[in-house]
Order: sequence, then structure tokens, then C-alpha cells
Amino acid sequence: MPRSSKPRIGVVVVAAGSGQRLGYGLPKAQVPLAGRTILAHALEGILASGVAERICVAVPPGDSVLRTVCTAASGQVPVTAVEGGTSRAASVSHALAGLGSGLDGILVHDAARALTPPEVFGRVVQALAAGAKAVIPAVPVADTIKTAVPSGAGQQAMAGEKVSGTPDRSRLRAVQTPQGFDAAALNAAHRSLAAMGQLEAEAITDDAMLLESQGTEVFLVPGSPEALKITTALDLMTAEALVAARSRTGQPAVEIERSSVNHPVPTMED
Ligand code: CTP
Ligand code: MG
Repeated sequence: MPRSSKPRIGVVVVAAGSGQRLGYGLPKAQVPLAGRTILAHALEGILASGVAERICVAVPPGDSVLRTVCTAASGQVPVTAVEGGTSRAASVSHALAGLGSGLDGILVHDAARALTPPEVFGRVVQALAAGAKAVIPAVPVADTIKTAVPSGAGQQAMAGEKVSGTPDRSRLRAVQTPQGFDAAALNAAHRSLAAMGQLEAEAITDDAMLLESQGTEVFLVPGSPEALKITTALDLMTAEALVAARSRTGQPAVEIERSSVNHPVPTMED
């Protein structure tokens, strides 16, 4: 990644999911949030950050609604659409192909994180420009997390599971998108995903994990509580409240939490 000039950044948006858990009867990125589609909000945040040279969106097969949203958002920064795949990883691969070559860095963003503040995109790109090959936004975990195992025969009254451990919460992070990568490293990682067996590929749940599994260091920058993933009907209600608060104040509704995940990022000299 060149440090002297502005890095050339492409953004992949994955919007090809079906939104089963939201239960709206529409592909999730088409679901209205404050009168516009979830995808329209996601594209607005990316464009407002000013980091993108071009954007490619993976949309569900047969979709025309989201393609129209892409066309409407396309301007100085071109926004193209490609057909997504049957898994999130496949949708990322399709959109990577659609993004084309000649980029220094690529951000992979979930349309479902539609209200991610533009500053989060800026922080990820800044870390890439400083020499990191993989960067993800993260926030501290509020809940105590347990690991669980089946409780075994004869223990059905205990709901079938028992606790096997309690990881140290101070070291846990909830990760968000956009996840940012050196373009060559991400493209190479996705080529290796295509060569993996199905079970191995299914165990890779995000792009950072794919690079981690190949020994690339993944750095954290502060995420934002406003970058919540709209998964359930309750999340959609929260998102509606956030949009309403933003339009009342003209400001992000919640103070961005920068404190506990402000990890250093390597420079080219490191
Ligand atoms: N996604 C995608 N292609 C898929 C599956 C998911 O592009 N085959 C995208 C979704 O559109 C979403 C992001 O990946 O922006 C995260 O996925 P998730 O929140 O699980 O969305 P859905 O798969 O749509 O929801 P659900 O799992 O409830 O069906
Ligand atoms: Mg899903």
C-alpha cells in the first residue's frame, strides 16, 4: 500500500442474504428502514466516508430492486451490482471479481450494518495506509460469554447443554464491518477459499478469519455501537430509533466508544 498518495480503495458490499431471522418476507437489504431500503442507508454511509474509489454490491439472484438502488447511488463513485452466492463468502468472492483490479485496499462491508458511521471507514483505511494488511473494527463485549458443550444423556432437564468455560471478558471483542485488507492479500485468500473442502470453507465465518488462518496479522481499530448488525426485528427497531435520533440532532446518536480497543497498528517500518 503506497503511503505517499491516497490509497485506491474499493468496497465490496454483501447484500445477497435472505434475511430469515428478520422474518420480513423480503431479502434483508430490501427491507425498509425509515422509508428507504437498508442497502440505500449502507451505501450512503460508505459514500459519506469519502474513502471509496468504486463499490460493488452482491445482490440476491433475480433481484432488480437492489440493482436500482445501486444505479441511483452511482455517481462520481461508480456502484455496480453482481449476483451473490449461496454463502456470504461466495457473495464476497463474486463481488471481488466485480470490483476489478488496480486497487491498493479493499473493504468488505455487510449491508446489514447499514448505519455504520463514516468515521469507522476512515479508521480502517487509515490503518491500511499505515501498513496493516488486515484491519477490523471491534467493540468491547458487554455480556459475560460462556462456552457450552452437550450435557450428555440423562440430563435433558438441563436443556441439553452445560458450561465448559468462561473466557476472560477483558480480552474478548465483538467485531464489525467494514473489514479492510490489502487488495492482493484478500484476492489471494479468496482464491485459496475456492480450493478448500466445503467443511473447511464453512468453518471460515468472516474474511479476517480467512487471512488469520493463513498467518496474516489482523489489527483492530475502534468500531461503533451504531454499526450494529440488523439481524432480528428488535435490531430493526433499534436502527429506526437511531435514524430518528440522527435526523433530530444531525449527529451520531451515541458517542463512539474509542477507549478499550485502541490497539497500535504497524507502520511500514515495523
Ligand atoms: N450475505 C450475502 N450472501 C449470502 C448470505 C449473506 O451477501 N449468501 C450478506 C447479507 O446480505 C448481510 C451479510 O452477508 O448483509 C451478513 O449476513 P446476515 O446478517 O446473516 O444476513 P442474512 O443471511 O440475510 O440473514 P439470515 O442469516 O437471518 O437469513
Ligand atoms: Mg445469514
